[in-house]
Amino acid sequence: MVSSFPSAQWGARAHLGEQGKLPTPFPRIMGPNAMKYLEEVVASGLTCDMMGRFEKALAAELGVKHCIATPGCTPALAVLAAAMPWEPGDEIIVSPVTDYGTVQGLISEDLIPVFPDTAPHSLNFSAETIEPCITSRTRAILCVHMTGIMNDMDPILELAKRHGLVVYEDACQAVFGEYKGRLAGTLGFAAGFSFDSEKTMGSDVGGCLVTNDDEFAERARYIGQSRGAVMKPHYGRLHTDAGYAYRMPHCTAAICLAQLEIVREQVVHRDRMARLLLKLLSEIPGILPLEIPDFVTLYSCWMIGFRIGPKQFRCSAEEFANQLVEAGVPGAGTGQYYLMPEALVCLQKKAAEKSYPYSIPPASRPIDYLSMCPRAKGFLKDFIRWSTFCEKYEPEHCELAADIVRKVANANRR
Ligand SMILES: Cc1ncc(COP(=O)(O)O)c(C=O)c1O
Repeated sequence: MVSSFPSAQWGARAHLGEQGKLPTPFPRIMGPNAMKYLEEVVASGLTCDMMGRFEKALAAELGVKHCIATPGCTPALAVLAAAMPWEPGDEIIVSPVTDYGTVQGLISEDLIPVFPDTAPHSLNFSAETIEPCITSRTRAILCVHMTGIMNDMDPILELAKRHGLVVYEDACQAVFGEYKGRLAGTLGFAAGFSFDSEKTMGSDVGGCLVTNDDEFAERARYIGQSRGAVMKPHYGRLHTDAGYAYRMPHCTAAICLAQLEIVREQVVHRDRMARLLLKLLSEIPGILPLEIPDFVTLYSCWMIGFRIGPKQFRCSAEEFANQLVEAGVPGAGTGQYYLMPEALVCLQKKAAEKSYPYSIPPASRPIDYLSMCPRAKGFLKDFIRWSTFCEKYEPEHCELAADIVRKVANANRR
């Protein structure tokens, strides 16, 4: 079916023509060695292993044993889903508020994503909301740290241990953020990262899978980068599994390596600016900024978000966000589309029609996506965010942003 809606845009193109009074990520600040590393790739006649160099550098910076570089997080998590010993119809518990890239690999492997509701006042789920979703078919819990605010991982890890489940992370929005001093992406069995151009460590595209598990790392490389092929002596490649050619291009790796050299300092700055801006927003009557729990010891903030108090304003969140754009906040908008059980129309249809893998078997029970996550839906109805928050913010930008929000709030207050 061809939709009458226009196709989605991404990267700099999605922000083309945006103007306002606040900094935007584009043009990105580039690591000072970016050109040098790109030149190395070209001058070597494509013989230098820039992808391998980036993999080693990122693994060392995160303190993990393995990094498998891919063209994005969507492919990284697809490789993970393909490399794990899961069967069609197995259930994977996934954060309900996230990007499609979190679940694409699960869908391709005929796994069934199940979405617990969010915790109160949060875009993330919690051990309490996850527990009722665990069934005999659950195999794993995939935790997304939305906007960069970490999930409360210790209770989730403890719950998973009790039920024999794998925990892994989608750390796309929390690059080098910290939970109780531990780095995002190092808290579970494995994690996916994105380095797409809008992200905190923005390259042109890019992503990776990280893990401390030697056997899994080898399998992920064989499935994800070597197309499921082994070398048979005196013969050549034998494709013993259906794999992917998801290798990070060397030129992308050159940019990622340069961005890695500047990102940690930028994340510390993002943490300071996000905390300042959220505090200023909290002083505006009717504005309810995202809460940063104490266990978030470093907030690698990718986007700023707040709710407008229900019934306090004459306008909807969408109208409020549009007025913010007009008043100078580029990229302000709502985020209903992040609610996966609602946005995944393709899965709703299959589940309703009980078509494979929602037929029983391989599924074990009917799934109804539209009845999932009422709290998350209510939260997102009043939620406004701008993903154009970036490392270029200084205290005066936070003050200006809060001033604009205050003016729009005052103009629309009941
Ligand atoms: C939470 C989350 N997961 C996955 C993705 C997909 O990443 P990529 O574009 O690198 O495939 C994104 C990108 O926006 C994201 O925010």
